[in-house]
Amino acid sequence: MTPSKPVAGTGAGPGPGGASTNGASGDAALSVRELVKTFEVGGGWLGGERGEVSAVAGVSFDIGAGKTMGLVGESGCGKSTTARCILRLIEPTSGDVVLQHPLDGGGSERIDVIAADKGELRRLRRHMQIVFQDPFASLNPRMSVGQALREPLVVHTSMSRDEQNSRVAELLRLVGLNPRIVDRYPHEFSGGQRQRIGVARALAFDPGFLVLDEPVSALDVSIQAQVLNLLDDLQDELGLTYLFIAHDLAVVRHVCDDIAVMYLGKIVEHTSAERLFDESMHPYTHALLSAVPVPDPEQERGRLRILLEGDVPSPLNPPPGCRFHTRCHVGRDQAVCRVTEPPLEEVSEGHWVACHFPEARQVV
Ligand SMILES: Nc1ncnc2c1ncn2[C@@H]1O[C@H](COP(=O)(O)OP(=O)(O)OP(=O)(O)O)[C@@H](O)[C@H]1O
Ligand code: SF4
Ligand SMILES: [Mg+2]
Repeated sequence: MTPSKPVAGTGAGPGPGGASTNGASGDAALSVRELVKTFEVGGGWLGGERGEVSAVAGVSFDIGAGKTMGLVGESGCGKSTTARCILRLIEPTSGDVVLQHPLDGGGSERIDVIAADKGELRRLRRHMQIVFQDPFASLNPRMSVGQALREPLVVHTSMSRDEQNSRVAELLRLVGLNPRIVDRYPHEFSGGQRQRIGVARALAFDPGFLVLDEPVSALDVSIQAQVLNLLDDLQDELGLTYLFIAHDLAVVRHVCDDIAVMYLGKIVEHTSAERLFDESMHPYTHALLSAVPVPDPEQERGRLRILLEGDVPSPLNPPPGCRFHTRCHVGRDQAVCRVTEPPLEEVSEGHWVACHFPEARQVV
């Protein structure tokens, strides 16, 4: 699998590949350029100090058709907000998102997601879908499996009842479940089975692009591999493109072509999964990698450990200069890190890093 090429963009202005690039490049299924989302908070009837949460601060990337890009970072760094903006579940403050949706007869249709009006957005929903972390929360407990899977077909298509039923059976088979379970309810299933139902629901309209927002984080470790294998099989069978969100690098290692590491609303490193594990260059990536468990106890004892000190700073008031400088073991005492924001630059072909002092290391 060949990694797609990430695109630079710092969010600090029209950076390389930023404002000038306003469309999907090459064979990218999804192109995101300079995506920004700022939430206004406080000052309402609940009171609190008025301010702006800089949740996504200029994120740019491409995902190649049929590929998987992992988006990884600690809680609150803006992964889900990025995904929700891409799907227009919330309105981004600024930025561009372009989807290339494959057409049945060959070729593809270019869709400007941000410019889509209400009608186009309804159509777009069929092409882009999301699978959430907690399958129980995303399924209505009072709806049987059949009702839950039929609902989007009733709302968005003119299928007859028989056609709906056969599509529901087809979807269940696709995710490895017996179609005879249609009359059962979510509480009767295990976590893994519920997540399969969540995936079946997302696949109702043959989407080309799926966001998987921590799809296995709520599952037992023994079940995680089964769901990951299912997602992998579905990708091969249906040619799906995935944005795979995780806070843990260990989970994405074997399922992603590319990995983008995010910190406080920005991508700080982006390259192929293989290269990220073999020669990552950003101090934050090094710290995340040093937390990935190694099965060999000997290797585990001798390996580099980088502890991340303190908490992630508040996105209400992000640090100046490099957003990571308050916790960085390399740049904490460097004046340039405190003052100047490092741009996301291509340090070697296909390897993008935002750091004044990048250094290739193998941590795991
Ligand atoms: N509706 C909102 N109003 C104000 N702030 C918000 C809102 N939604 C998200 N945020 C803030 O935006 C930041 C990014 O949140 P987001 O949910 O995207 O993070 P995440 O990386 O998905 O985290 P997690 O791993 O916990 O799911 C957080 O600081 C969060 O508190
Ligand atoms: S720019 Fe400086 S503070 Fe930021 S990651 Fe690099 S070394 Fe650390
Ligand atoms: Mg999230």
